[in-house]
Amino acid sequence: MIDISIVQFCPKLFDKKSNINKIEQFIEADKSDLIVFPELATTGYSFITAKEAEEHSDEFNGKIMKRFQEMATRKNKIIVLGFAEKFRTEFYNSAAILFPEKEYSACYRKTHLFYRERFCFSEGNTGFFVVDYKPFDLKLGTMICYDWRFPEAARTLGIKGADIIACPSNLVTNIWHLAMPARAIENKVFLAVANRYGTEEREGQELFFNGDSALWSYNGTLLAVAQKEGDEVLKSSIDPKLTRNKAFNEYNDIFKDRRSNYYA
Ligand code: ACM
Repeated sequence: MIDISIVQFCPKLFDKKSNINKIEQFIEADKSDLIVFPELATTGYSFITAKEAEEHSDEFNGKIMKRFQEMATRKNKIIVLGFAEKFRTEFYNSAAILFPEKEYSACYRKTHLFYRERFCFSEGNTGFFVVDYKPFDLKLGTMICYDWRFPEAARTLGIKGADIIACPSNLVTNIWHLAMPARAIENKVFLAVANRYGTEEREGQELFFNGDSALWSYNGTLLAVAQKEGDEVLKSSIDPKLTRNKAFNEYNDIFKDRRSNYYA
């Protein structure tokens, strides 16, 4: 069994010191095997210029992520954490996926950019990948927020063998709670969404982030859900192995039955 914590909180825009402090406190207090934080958790969301991305981004191999890597190792815990990533001259909306054994750690760069992100970040170029973390026997895939609108994202992770998809998010619509259980069912995967709450206002435009962080089972059942506002840590236990047999009767298997030559 894998114990999961999904952290919902309200990052303060461009106050990295306070956000990182808070994230570290959540990790220190946590006893799970896998802890998932929201998108852009270290910086807040509402970047509007590339210059801001340059100012507030961190390298995946830099000092801050190194500190979180050390925590992952010391606490024997997988940490999935949204952050603004600097890589050479590019900036990405990324998720650090930090395993206790560092050689497994990886960085996912958001594939589908939402709203004004396109003015600040480059389109992700890592693609969707699954890390098979042998010490926990857990196959973990990651997508970020708006990636949910593209069923291909979760499908790719499902086909690549994910048991669970971690989805750091800063969601602003009210429809994603309808779609996420479908993504879980159609790929037979667990789906963990860590969403932030609160509002951010930039140049007269306000974004309201709607909390409601949640964990769905592979059959679409809601296992845990947070309030629309407020700091919260959702806790649940899952058996990753339950996702691996994609057959649901002796004749049907949701992946083997695919007729991909008929799909656009
Ligand atoms: C989003 O991708 N932050 C909605």
